[in-house]
Amino acid sequence: MLASTQELLETARKNIYAIGAFNVYNLEGVKAVISAAEDCRSPAMLQIHPSALRYGSSTLVALCLEAARSAKVPISVHLDHSTKASNIYEALEAGMTSIMADGSHLPYQDNLAFTKEMTRLAHEYGAVVEAEIGRISGTEDGLTIAEKEAKMTDPEQAVQFVQATGVDSLAVTIGNVHGEYKSPPRLDFDRLAQIRQLLSIPLVLHGASGLPPEMIGRSIQLGVCKFNVNTEVRQAYMQSLKREICRPEDKDLLEIAGEAISAMKSVIIDKLTLFGAVNKS
Ligand code: G3H
Ligand code: 13P
Ligand code: ZN
Ligand code: NA
Repeated sequence: MLASTQELLETARKNIYAIGAFNVYNLEGVKAVISAAEDCRSPAMLQIHPSALRYGSSTLVALCLEAARSAKVPISVHLDHSTKASNIYEALEAGMTSIMADGSHLPYQDNLAFTKEMTRLAHEYGAVVEAEIGRISGTEDGLTIAEKEAKMTDPEQAVQFVQATGVDSLAVTIGNVHGEYKSPPRLDFDRLAQIRQLLSIPLVLHGASGLPPEMIGRSIQLGVCKFNVNTEVRQAYMQSLKREICRPEDKDLLEIAGEAISAMKSVIIDKLTLFGAVNKS
């Protein structure tokens, strides 16, 4: 069933587990997430990045919403990393009720102004907003954000930001990286604990691909109740396609698509298990 992001996150936080938010681009990705969540009896989130929105437009939104409605477990549909008002407006008009207003590339005051305005707009539509302060390094759908541009979330600034903007959840930057970790991941758990002490809204950790299980577990204990996962699922999809297409025996389109769904599904099941979300629907 189509669920509200805020309810999923609040329930997860209260019961000390986390919701997996998986980036999807097409029918295969959507099927993999729903089928994994149903098998695990887990709530989950379908997440659309603006690049996916450019690729699939409102058809992708409609697909996600319909898949969520007919799922046997609670699923919400969320717009990921939106730096443009036009994307947010488009998503809200298409019926999405959960968005990320991402001003993290902007100077602090500009991020605050952008997020505040987008939150006002989203709340008018009855939608909820995730925002980010600090800047995550790594690759966001092909664009590299250098280590030196990355900046960790300042706990005091986070409080001021949340109060001034009225956002519903906050993505923190504590050493997490989009895409692959080029060196072993190091998360600043003291910083996370401070942020948790000062803030009562749900906390989100991006860049979950590549994080070892113990870091996932510790983050949940310290208040993270949503993890964003993209790269590992994409890689499973691509590897499966390459493998199946190159087989000497002629495989049919639907067989190849089916294998790709299974490959993504197995990564998603692993993540839902790590997040403690199994049997939480
Ligand atoms: O953060 C949002 C993007 O969807 C991340 O994508 O790291 O797989 O390129 P990527
Ligand atoms: P990964 O690609 O590292 O899983 O990060 C995903 C993400 O943060 C999407 O917003
Ligand atoms: Zn992200
Ligand atoms: Na990552």
